[in-house]
Amino acid sequence: MAISAVDPKPVLIDCDPGIDDALALLLAMSEPTHLDIVAITVVAGNVAAVQTERNARRLRDLAGRSEIAVFGGCRRPLLRPLQDAAHVHGETGMDGCGLAAPQGRPSQRHAVAAILSAVAKQPGQLTICAVGPLTNLAVAIVQRPDVMAQLKGIVLMGGAAAAGNVTAHAEFNFYVDPEAARIVFESGIPIVMHGLDVTHKARVDRPWVDQLLTVDTPVTRSVAGMLSVYNGGVDGDPRGRPVHDALAIAYLVHPEWFGGTDCHVAIETNNPDQIGRSHVRAGADIGEEGANAQVIFEIDADRFRSYLAGQLQSL
Ligand code: BDR
Ligand code: CA
Repeated sequence: MAISAVDPKPVLIDCDPGIDDALALLLAMSEPTHLDIVAITVVAGNVAAVQTERNARRLRDLAGRSEIAVFGGCRRPLLRPLQDAAHVHGETGMDGCGLAAPQGRPSQRHAVAAILSAVAKQPGQLTICAVGPLTNLAVAIVQRPDVMAQLKGIVLMGGAAAAGNVTAHAEFNFYVDPEAARIVFESGIPIVMHGLDVTHKARVDRPWVDQLLTVDTPVTRSVAGMLSVYNGGVDGDPRGRPVHDALAIAYLVHPEWFGGTDCHVAIETNNPDQIGRSHVRAGADIGEEGANAQVIFEIDADRFRSYLAGQLQSL
């Protein structure tokens, strides 16, 4: 179920920046020979959708990639009020970034329309890399399942086979919009899932930030500023902090650094104690339903970390 294509791979990034989203977007924008970013779509998640849209444009400005279109998307989860993560990313979603207000204006086109038109333009070719709550994707699937069936696949960050990070069971992106996650996992679209099981294995710490800053650029300064805030800052945990979303982008360019297993993933939307939990079954436990996702469990963390630093320094 691995998703591959000839470079540069056409990819649409759906996100909620968010500090680790910011690292993911900067990493993607540093790879023009491998990734053709057809659009960035944003959704409510880490902070409100108006702010995530502004943040995506600020990052586009920082990377000097003004040609990439940014589209604002769903402003709240399908059936629930938004529970944000401003306590992790700051009130702006990118506290510490030191960036100016974005250039230009928000696009008039909705993210869901942009997603559907991007898929229809390149049937069978486009990969969506989704690193926020899955609201935009779910709405697109409900509106036009025939169009979304033409996706090459979805590479996402979300879920956890083991412990969650919002509750004992649930990871943030699936917890915020569990109905959307369920629609995506029941869609039949090929999925590669990077959950907490793998993202917690590739953290960045103070020595990593110091090494990043040996090349002094607006990008490295901004990233270091955000990481001094992110979830209490890199200095707040000797193990460092996981940069969840950046792994999904690294996978697009270097899938050989990752190890996964075909699994059946079901999203909990009923049991009030386990809302947003991803029930992951592998091997003989999959049963008749069959696999609906490749779940990533392993990463060459050293290669990932040095790749991430090098690419950010190159921008
Ligand atoms: C996910 O939650 C968000 O806060 C991060 O941006 C990431 O996408 C990790 O659980
Ligand atoms: Ca995110």
